[in-house]
Amino acid sequence: MEDEGQEKSLRISSVSFHISSLWYVLLLCLCVLPGARTRCERKPVIFNFGDSNSDTGGFSAALGVTFKLPFGRAFLREQNGRISDGRLMIDFFCESLNASYLSPYLDSLGSDFTNGANFAVAGATTLRKFNSFSLDVQVLQFLRFRAGSLLLTSKGYTNQVSEEEFRNALYIIDIGQNDLFASFIDLLYEQVIQSIPTFIAVIKSAVWDIYKSGGKNFWIHNTGPLGCLPQKLATISARNATSDYDPYGCLFPLNNAAKQFNRQLKALCQKLRSEMIDATIVYVDVYSVKYHLIANSARYGFENPLMACCGHGGPPYNYDPTTRCGNSSVTACDPGLHYVSWDGIHHTEAANSIFAASILSSKFSTPHTNLNFFCAINV
Ligand SMILES: *[C@@H]1O[C@H](CO)[C@@H](O)[C@H](O)[C@H]1NC(C)=O
Ligand SMILES: *[C@@H]1O[C@H](CO)[C@@H](O)[C@H](O)[C@H]1NC(C)=O
Ligand SMILES: *[C@@H]1O[C@H](CO)[C@@H](O)[C@H](O)[C@H]1NC(C)=O
Repeated sequence: MEDEGQEKSLRISSVSFHISSLWYVLLLCLCVLPGARTRCERKPVIFNFGDSNSDTGGFSAALGVTFKLPFGRAFLREQNGRISDGRLMIDFFCESLNASYLSPYLDSLGSDFTNGANFAVAGATTLRKFNSFSLDVQVLQFLRFRAGSLLLTSKGYTNQVSEEEFRNALYIIDIGQNDLFASFIDLLYEQVIQSIPTFIAVIKSAVWDIYKSGGKNFWIHNTGPLGCLPQKLATISARNATSDYDPYGCLFPLNNAAKQFNRQLKALCQKLRSEMIDATIVYVDVYSVKYHLIANSARYGFENPLMACCGHGGPPYNYDPTTRCGNSSVTACDPGLHYVSWDGIHHTEAANSIFAASILSSKFSTPHTNLNFFCAINV
């Protein structure tokens, strides 16, 4: 039966390739275009915490680094600080709520914090590791932002976020990927698994600190399939046996660690729901959303799901740690092609738009809650 199914899917694959672009447009129209699906009755205010998956320019601002073309080539072509060819999931979320893109808290140029702030910084971890902007520090920055906004308001400044807006705001957390990756650099698999509770504990403290400040709406992303990232495949795989690969070519141990992290994060959300009166805590299964696209990439018109669009070295992963995207000698793939991975670590705008559309369907959320739950006024 299984073989028959496979043959059938092979036969229809050429057809689905042609209609896939249509699917793509349809998905965008249904789910991602501004105001198409989720609408707010009150001004949506969002605070986001995380790593490069949702960094809208924090790393760039803090370290004075600019990402030149081909970064940003698909959208917002000027220096926009995103480590992608275009928009991230968080940008599509904002569009769906008819809200402006989130300004990075660390950016002193042209920022507008009236609809919230983005504390995410590329490379961030729960525990301090690659840079100073670990989750505990991001939460301290938020608490300073909150106190400062209320103080300025009391002194007569306008256009600050109000106490009521802080209370009704959405608090998004998307972190953990770098903690797992960092662990795999110098720990054995069992040790990586043993360290997961320490990452979860930091997320728990973050949610409690925000809750104690008055926040009650949480949107918590789990972590994606780490073992499907071209960078990990090109660097970690070389050291390990081929039996470590799943049917789609992703690394089992890394994905298993991600799943273990996710199980513990889901359990934490469940526990917090029972402890936090009046709070809504939505757990979002980003892992399944990303894995689905990698496993069914041809159906969506995507090429080589395990290969970086912008990189060096060619197949199978097109990732070379000494010659990365951004190096003047590195060229990106044809802009007409849809790749899942932009530079071996981060996703393309095309992939992010599919991920966002899936998440906005609320099918991957526990409980099944629409993203606009925090700004819809129930009558
Ligand atoms: C979107 O926001 C703009 C102003 O920011 C407003 O004029 C417009 O009516 C809004 N659209 C929807 C569908 O809410
Ligand atoms: C890679 O192989 C080594 C030696 O066999 C093993 O100790 C380690 O756990 C493996 N790493 C991963 C990520 O599975
Ligand atoms: C760019 O790539 C070249 C060739 O691999 C390498 O020697 C050089 O160090 C790279 N430059 C940077 C800034 O990474």
